Amino acid sequence: MITSRRGFLRSLGGCAAAGLARRCPLEGVSRAALLEPSRFNKDDGLIHLDSNENPYAPSTKVADAIRSSLGNANRYPRMEYKSLVERIAGFHSVKPERVLLGCGSTEILRVAAFAFVGNGKQLIQATPTFEAIEHYARAAGSEVISVRLTPAFAHDLDGMLAGATASTTLVYICNPNNPTATLTPRKELEAFIGKLPASSFVVIDEAYHEYAGQSGMYASFIDHPLDDERVIVTRTFSQVYGLAGLRLGYAVASPKLVQQMQKFATEDNINEVVTQAAAVALDDTEGVDNFVQRNTDDRQEFFNEAMAHALKPIDSHANFVMMNSFHPAVEVVQHFRDSNILIGRPFPAMDTYIRISLGLPEEMRAFWQAWDVLPYPKHLSHH
Ligand SMILES: Cc1ncc(COP(=O)(O)O)c(C=O)c1O
Repeated sequence: MITSRRGFLRSLGGCAAAGLARRCPLEGVSRAALLEPSRFNKDDGLIHLDSNENPYAPSTKVADAIRSSLGNANRYPRMEYKSLVERIAGFHSVKPERVLLGCGSTEILRVAAFAFVGNGKQLIQATPTFEAIEHYARAAGSEVISVRLTPAFAHDLDGMLAGATASTTLVYICNPNNPTATLTPRKELEAFIGKLPASSFVVIDEAYHEYAGQSGMYASFIDHPLDDERVIVTRTFSQVYGLAGLRLGYAVASPKLVQQMQKFATEDNINEVVTQAAAVALDDTEGVDNFVQRNTDDRQEFFNEAMAHALKPIDSHANFVMMNSFHPAVEVVQHFRDSNILIGRPFPAMDTYIRISLGLPEEMRAFWQAWDVLPYPKHLSHH
């Protein structure tokens, strides 16, 4: 049993020492370089494969920006708010009036719910999907209609359309979808949005955008916008940029919708440190490319390992993987917890599936070790 993360990492050598016959995903990267960012990681004795964070980050440049910003912690970040909005607007080649910052993209989801649904109104979403907007829509008094993903784990857009009425004022599309890491084809989304009632605003959550970039099925609604002022796109610094702990997300939408949502946002909802970190992170394309490449390698390694275990995870377009454990997920999650490994929460709509965020190679080896001692049958041949 692994009793502390630091001890665990110490106990492991490089890939070769761990006896892996397959290609080490980080061959050529020195162990020191690999572990360097971990001085920022929590040392709570747990392996965190539960929240889709970037396990390597923040990058060195971003970490330096964080450190140098600390001296301004006594100031409200008001000037910085404006310059960060301009910086993000510049990054996406849109007008600053189209950008709204949030305390994580979770705040954007909250303000979208409070601005666009309420008593007598409806939110339509997929299930399973990221649940924050559902919680806030319910808190705002709205009805929530959840439509099962298709057998290919895409949004069932026809089903969602069939559920839409004149009181459907908000539609949530998470693409790539959390928890399945799957894509809904861009062309189908365009046709779907065109057919929605005029009353419906559409939130497209692109939290995992950077990991989806390679697929022909995918195109961001920020980079390739529709001529439709009902679309609100959300992004976050929590994933590829490695800044989940600093809380910054944003929306790109029409100036009118930005204003409507802004009314519900917390005053001074961002912090001095993250304004500096985010500005550097946006410039650090090398850092982002590096993290995306590492994720690609780590994801490939996960699939290799899964195949060796006769498992077939759902094809992943993100930094996490969902797979059928053929056993109640609640118990599987607890089994991992007993080994000091946190994996994703159970998603009731897929109650034998588990979601695993990709961690450091060492952490993933611990995952598979714990998998191997699950006390029940656990692969395809049993079904
Ligand atoms: C799809 C999706 N949207 C939004 C969020 C919220 O991220 P944050 O509030 O950290 O930006 C998450 C976090 O896991 C997510 O998976």
